[in-house]
Amino acid sequence: MKLAEIRKKFLKFFASKKHALIASSTLVPLNDPTVLLTTAGMQQFKPYFLGERDPIKDLRSRRLASVQKCFRTSDINEVGDLTHLTFFEMLGNFSVGDYFKKEGIAYAWEFLTKTLKVPTQRLWATFFKGSPAGKKNKFSADQEAFEHWQKYLPKNKIAGFGPEENFWGPPGKTGPCGPCTEIHYDLTQTPCEKADACLPNCECGRFVEIWNLVFMEYFKSTSGEYSELPHKNIDTGMGLERLAMILQAKASVFQTEAFTKIIQKIETDPRFGLTGNSLEDSRRLRIASDHFKGAVFLRADEVRFSNKEQGYILRRIFRRACDQYLHPGMDLSRPVRAVVREYQEVYPDLANKQAEILADFQKEYLAYEKVRNLNLQVLLKQLPPEGILSQIASPEGVSKIHITGKAAFQLFSTYGASIDQLKQKGFEFAEAEFELEMEKHRTVSRAGAESKFGGHGLNSAALSDVEREKITRLHTATHLLQQALRDVLGETVKQEGSDINPERLRFDFRFAEKLTPEQIAEVEEIVNEKIDGDLPVTFQEMPYADAIKSGALAFFKEKYPDPVKVYSVGDYSKELCGGPHVERTGQIGEFKILSEKSVSAGIRRIKATVA
Ligand code: GLY
Repeated sequence: MKLAEIRKKFLKFFASKKHALIASSTLVPLNDPTVLLTTAGMQQFKPYFLGERDPIKDLRSRRLASVQKCFRTSDINEVGDLTHLTFFEMLGNFSVGDYFKKEGIAYAWEFLTKTLKVPTQRLWATFFKGSPAGKKNKFSADQEAFEHWQKYLPKNKIAGFGPEENFWGPPGKTGPCGPCTEIHYDLTQTPCEKADACLPNCECGRFVEIWNLVFMEYFKSTSGEYSELPHKNIDTGMGLERLAMILQAKASVFQTEAFTKIIQKIETDPRFGLTGNSLEDSRRLRIASDHFKGAVFLRADEVRFSNKEQGYILRRIFRRACDQYLHPGMDLSRPVRAVVREYQEVYPDLANKQAEILADFQKEYLAYEKVRNLNLQVLLKQLPPEGILSQIASPEGVSKIHITGKAAFQLFSTYGASIDQLKQKGFEFAEAEFELEMEKHRTVSRAGAESKFGGHGLNSAALSDVEREKITRLHTATHLLQQALRDVLGETVKQEGSDINPERLRFDFRFAEKLTPEQIAEVEEIVNEKIDGDLPVTFQEMPYADAIKSGALAFFKEKYPDPVKVYSVGDYSKELCGGPHVERTGQIGEFKILSEKSVSAGIRRIKATVA
């Protein structure tokens, strides 16, 4: 059974159980400071689990299902074995205060054994057996889940585990979480030397976890306290690639079509260079294929190469993928095109962005090659004496150099030399110390970004006058766009986010459905009409409360200084804003919508530009 068929069957099954089908959110979660990337299907539904929003109003159902793009950095060093991945797709069904344990387990069992016809004798389940005595947060055993499972499985195939295995979440430090039950697949049906103690989670490799069902009933605060959520929820996650591996009877996820063509394109690039050691070559191919795929998906979701946050993750996996090539001058188009070809039907964005992804990768590759060619001695000279802890000499000169994590970070921030590259050159350092430096750097840059009110980066010294002017025009166009959307789609349209760069504006707003081509055309027409009308743009300063009373639109996630500025465009739009704006709308130029899509549950994103 191919990936495409599994996705389809999963969504069809849960649609038949009255679930609303929700598109995958982007890999960069919206308005969620607790995580850098989307690691689970539940993330886009957090406001519903927390009781902050009503799923009926936004999504017309308390039952939801999705196939979610996920990226996890937690296993990055494990990638190269048979099962670990950074990027993967997660099949998930969710109940927001609707069904709970009984139906959750029944649906999973029915889907696996009836729809997919997985032989029941291969399946095992785990449940939460409670937290160990003496723990600050004491949770009791999930007797209820244990009992439900007995309808489907003999007792000896239902194993209890502690919080390490069977208490899930939250992703990040705070958020919804709860005990879980997992379904494992028995690959070999042969116990290891542990005999009856060879159970799911055994390290011998007999079992592979396929589905996690979280009984999400708690909220974990930043201080580590647990409280009950307003309702009980179901949050499940099943790895698509692992399921395909089982259904296709393959020994690893890399032998499914999620990887085979990508691997083939890498392997046949002479620059990859085979060592002849097949174990080592397979490992290199798995790392390169996983990381290139992850890099393509991150870049398609607008992550840019940088030394911080998501951009650093992208840089790290991209460079680590390149590190697997023995010779310089690799052909980047091979892995990029292979990923796009395999996934474009499900994620059409990839095909539209292929050229820009490739161009960006080429640039990064050149930077990477430069670092690759820097010799150890040159790098060493850049370091202050206190950064160098010890050097071990070999007959050819210095071979291993022990440096501080801070010094390693310095080489990283100056040259972009990745952890892996530094290690390859012979540097040794404590990775934890390096990460700590990274975290400090992150905190400083985040504080810097937050202090910039208005947030459109007009102060950046890197911008030319032409770019500054374009951003100003796009800024005023954003106000017109928000009002035009409200005219066409109704007053429920609310800003969820906005971002402007010299190429385009990006506007996120709450709306349940895809816009029709007619609606898009109408919005575009209204904005252009207001531009043609050459309306004056003016502002008034007033106390925040007065501004809200006057009906001016405010973006509730923004912290406004008080008094605030209220910008008016003729008498068409009125919004709280820090500016800057054009003086008259005639200066904006022609407005054009470039794209419209879903980025998270109930949230749409429009990109537009002015010419
Ligand atoms: N949220 C369930 C999982 O990620 O496994």
